[in-house]
Amino acid sequence: MNTLVIYASKHGTAKKCASEVSQRLTGKVDLCNIKSGKLPELSQYERVIIGGSIYVGKIQKDISDFCLNNLGLLKQKKLGLYLCCSNKKEFDTELKNAFPQELISTAAAVENFGGEFNFKEMNFLERAAIKMVSKGMAKEDPSMAQMDMKKSVSMLLQDNIDRFIELMNNVIEAQGLGVDVVSQTTVTSKV
Ligand SMILES: Cc1cc2nc3c(=O)[nH]c(=O)nc-3n(C[C@H](O)[C@H](O)[C@H](O)COP(=O)(O)O)c2cc1C
Repeated sequence: MNTLVIYASKHGTAKKCASEVSQRLTGKVDLCNIKSGKLPELSQYERVIIGGSIYVGKIQKDISDFCLNNLGLLKQKKLGLYLCCSNKKEFDTELKNAFPQELISTAAAVENFGGEFNFKEMNFLERAAIKMVSKGMAKEDPSMAQMDMKKSVSMLLQDNIDRFIELMNNVIEAQGLGVDVVSQTTVTSKV
């Protein structure tokens, strides 16, 4: 089974997750950054994984456009969707905003992979936005209120990543599950 893992990532979290997923999936896997250029031909893939990250409540526009422009084709694939969403409490809402409902309901796996705050990569405005996001997160996790913005923070949800990969590997045998995909171009290819 040929698989496409397509992602968008600003500071590297969704990219790191896409890389891990592509390395651990069985079969031939093409890994594509949606911003890297020409999109691969979707017809050559049976399984598609689409991932992105949340910025002020929204996924990257390239991913939204990709899903909308390829909706019919994606519904025919074995589909996996993931978000890098730091605010766990908001995941359900962010998911509904990020992907068309038709794709969410047909996907074989949908997960929040969590997020990271890579402060060294952020500009002043991004740091200000993180202060707002972390205020909301502090309601559940009081330690967020005292976050040291000189240190990077990882909130990756490894159990969710593991579960997602397991489901997507199992989908090979489980014919008939709906899946979606997004794509991006190039980068690596693994057999
Ligand atoms: C400007 C900015 C706004 C953000 N807004 C949100 C948000 O609304 N909700 C959330 O859960 N995470 C938010 N985050 C956290 C990112 O989703 C998190 O850093 C993620 O790991 C970024 O992934 P990427 O490096 O692949 O782009 C925001 C981060 C930045 C820098």
